[in-house]
Amino acid sequence: MKLAPSILAADFTDLQQAIKLIEGARCEFVHFDVMDGNFVPNLTFGPSIIAQCRKLTTTPFDVHLMVTNPGDYIDSLAEAAVDVLSFHVEAEMYSPRLIRRMQERNMIASVAINPQTSLTAIEDILPILDNVLLMSVDPGFYGQDFIQTMFHKIEKLHAFREDHELLFTIEVDGGVSEDNLETLRQLGVDTVVAGKAFFQSPDPVLFAARVHGSRRRFHA
Ligand code: DX5
Ligand code: ZN
Repeated sequence: MKLAPSILAADFTDLQQAIKLIEGARCEFVHFDVMDGNFVPNLTFGPSIIAQCRKLTTTPFDVHLMVTNPGDYIDSLAEAAVDVLSFHVEAEMYSPRLIRRMQERNMIASVAINPQTSLTAIEDILPILDNVLLMSVDPGFYGQDFIQTMFHKIEKLHAFREDHELLFTIEVDGGVSEDNLETLRQLGVDTVVAGKAFFQSPDPVLFAARVHGSRRRFHA
């Protein structure tokens, strides 16, 4: 699986060091959690900080918008050369338009879905999506426990993708740890986000190697 460490769990006074650690562990993405204090009860950072971080690395940026008006952020994040952009289906009434706008600006278009939201809410847009960000905790904070009923939701989404021969990738966000990595891999998850499990690990490089699996380790 691919790994997108979430800098939400890093030391905000030293983002440069956090990004270096992500690069050193050969992670595929840097995950940025943008929170507006309205869609979720927490406030983080916006496009200008992401644009500054862009100068520090060539590692692709995976931005997770937890905001009430995701459409307002698309242009500035495209200008910041963001690679993958997720908005919450719960926040947007016109998802296909937003997805088109992201794709026109060469971003990988992704929709995030809360644990309590049924997959039927995104069923119609799955054929035009590049990625689905399945939340396995209620968004807002890092370090929460994985909600166990999400395994079944992942299984259902994976089965839908196979049955309909769709191409979107599946990314899981929240409470990912050594305890659930193998299950997530078996369920066909493509990318995992990890905040606490990466940044508070005694050995983040080893954690990344476990996510990547033995094949990747062998070639390292
Ligand atoms: C939660 C964020 C997650 C979070 C993950 O709102 O979207 O990306 O930072 O952190 P962990 O892996 O610690 O649950
Ligand atoms: Zn996130």
